[in-house]
Amino acid sequence: MSIIFDDKVKTITLQTKNTTYQMKIDRQGVLLHTYYGEKTDDTDKSYMICYRDRGFSGNPYEVGRIDRTYSLDILPQEYSCFGTGDYRISALKVKNADGSRTSCLLYESCEIREGKYSLPGLPAAYGTKEEAQTLTVTLRDCETGLKVCLYFGVFEEQDIITRAVKIINEGEGAVMLQKAASLSMDWQTGDYEWLTFYGRHTMERNLERSRIMHGVQSVGSVRGTSSHQHNPFIMVCDGSTTEEQGDCYGFSFVYSGEFLMEVEKDQMDQTRLVCGIHPENFEWKLESGESFVTPEIMMAYGKGFGSVSRIFHQMIREHICRGEWKHKRRPVLINNWEGTYFHFTGDKLEAIAREAADLGVELFVMDDGWFGKRDDDASGLGDWYPNEEKLGCTLKELGERIMALGMQFGIWFEPEGISEDSDLYRAHPDWAVAVPGRKPGLSRNQLVLDFSREDVQDYMIRRLKEILHNAPISYIKWDFNRSICDKYSRALPQERQGEMAHRFVLGLYRVLEELTKTFPHILLEGCSGGGGRFDAGMLYYTPQIWCSDNTDAIERLQIQYGTSFGYPVSAMGAHVSAVPNHQTGRVTPLSTRGCVAMAGTFGYELDVNRMTAAEREEVRSQIEMFKKHYDLIQYGEYYRLSSPVEGSATVWEMVSSDGGEALVSAVYHHVRSNPVPVYVKLGGLREDSMYRLELTGVPEERTLPINSKEHFFRQGHLVSGAALMHCGLMVPEALNGFQAWQIYLRAQSCSTVQASMSLS
Ligand code: DGJ
Repeated sequence: MSIIFDDKVKTITLQTKNTTYQMKIDRQGVLLHTYYGEKTDDTDKSYMICYRDRGFSGNPYEVGRIDRTYSLDILPQEYSCFGTGDYRISALKVKNADGSRTSCLLYESCEIREGKYSLPGLPAAYGTKEEAQTLTVTLRDCETGLKVCLYFGVFEEQDIITRAVKIINEGEGAVMLQKAASLSMDWQTGDYEWLTFYGRHTMERNLERSRIMHGVQSVGSVRGTSSHQHNPFIMVCDGSTTEEQGDCYGFSFVYSGEFLMEVEKDQMDQTRLVCGIHPENFEWKLESGESFVTPEIMMAYGKGFGSVSRIFHQMIREHICRGEWKHKRRPVLINNWEGTYFHFTGDKLEAIAREAADLGVELFVMDDGWFGKRDDDASGLGDWYPNEEKLGCTLKELGERIMALGMQFGIWFEPEGISEDSDLYRAHPDWAVAVPGRKPGLSRNQLVLDFSREDVQDYMIRRLKEILHNAPISYIKWDFNRSICDKYSRALPQERQGEMAHRFVLGLYRVLEELTKTFPHILLEGCSGGGGRFDAGMLYYTPQIWCSDNTDAIERLQIQYGTSFGYPVSAMGAHVSAVPNHQTGRVTPLSTRGCVAMAGTFGYELDVNRMTAAEREEVRSQIEMFKKHYDLIQYGEYYRLSSPVEGSATVWEMVSSDGGEALVSAVYHHVRSNPVPVYVKLGGLREDSMYRLELTGVPEERTLPINSKEHFFRQGHLVSGAALMHCGLMVPEALNGFQAWQIYLRAQSCSTVQASMSLS
């Protein structure tokens, strides 16, 4: 049983395999938060709370005259409210029917049930009765009648607890929700740091570690999407936490729109975290009887960043990604974007596909430019009708030509975008997001289609379905190439304009849900100018997301490294592109580009016909290697062994869950003279197994110096798991600039080990 309600001491304890979470209903009826961390028993942990009169931290009226030590300004709480005398950041702010902004939530009831709650219209982790339990704690503001249900989903085996909140107006008049966070979390003790992932277009999810200082710090997005600039995944940790050890908490918001993650260290050195929809563009009207449900947040606790990342990888793969593609082998793809940009014909695409098919590529993706009048980014968005003149045939015919090569066929869409120069805009100018009387802001020459409107969603569902029914399409890249400003919907009344940003995301989810239900065989890849909407919410619909518009292998090391903190390899779209790289001008070896793209869903994005015969053969063997190690790469446990911003090589490892095999990849991001050796300690192996190490990519004919590490590998030495994990491994030196090495390890059976010992 993972949820325990102790009626005597009024505690509710959530237990997962390795963690404990506890709350307590105190004598005033306030729901306190007493613990989250390493597993303990369900002892009432409120003994840790320090009650003391703190000047200027007032007391609720009922207790104030007799007990000045009881203050909401100090107490650790489960869902903090604005206006009650808790002056820290709050999770809930409501403009009540009388215009006041105070809420005071007291415990009413709780309910435990088997299985995981779901959230209508929103993505959320799912789990059967055997996999998860749900706790609902109901709180109420007795003065206004506002009811607040806190949902907790407990995934015992996964070490994950999810949270979401439902707010119901059971009062008389309408109220305005001005802030409705999904989570509020208090730590009474500890001096914390947090990891956030900031970025920009073509340089997403850079890791930043900062101390949580007194006062408020935050990351978030008011751009309509989760954004390139900040990711809705964070970690909170001790100052001493490393990849392998130390307290680490992870929080992943299952939402693709505007978000705010705030931390505050208060006057008593306590830390509070509040996460949810960004309140700046948010105001939701609740008429009497209406309710609002917040998006979900997933949280995990573990020792070291690595273990918490692996919890989220597993959780996203098993309980967020859904449908046919959850476990189905994803095809190696080729996308024509960097190969042709807008300039192609059906014949040209077929020629690329033909060559790629011969090399082992399984899916051809036709990117932007196949529809309407779309030869650059200034026009055509919204006109989702194939440009048959440009293609030289119908979409169906083109799909069939690709399939005749033994490949699958995929296409690009940007349904949320609309060009002013499009038939759709000319027919429905009011469908574009704009404030009446003001010229809307442009970005990449385009406007935004108002997905908060049901009629727009219906139109898009119809249009997309018609295309998908009429051509043999088995993959969609769903792109969105701008942030949203001028948030206003002509379909909403004045007092509901604050709902537009969230309704837009709900509209997007509705369209995606409808498509995935109707076309379960189609693989969706999310994209927003690369990784501008890389979040667990999108992964519920699109099991993979194009990680970045930056395809430079060396910059990708940093982008994929940052992304790996919250998201699995199977979610990261990664391609080999041409050199000089189109974003940076850098030239890297093809083997390095292949190695880096293999830390993702793997594909190509170039014109293979422009490659030399030798390069094409290298591509063929890369694809063979990827296919051979597919399960290890996509489902293996992921270890970050060194960082792309320190030292000279970035090293990572994928290891099978039974520790039987592993693939270590190393890329020199910094080439040095007389280099300091790169040592790493592997993870996840079996202590007492012997592993054979195989270095891939060294040409057989190459003569190797007797003392070189390559020579060592070629000798087929056996090394124990214990030695590799505790003593380590030295990565062979770089033979050229930006060298990549891949080392495959397999545990040997006892007989092989004995045989090799008797030989030596
Ligand atoms: C942005 C995407 O990230 C690119 O891969 C490409 O699809 C372009 N949009 C097309 O306009």
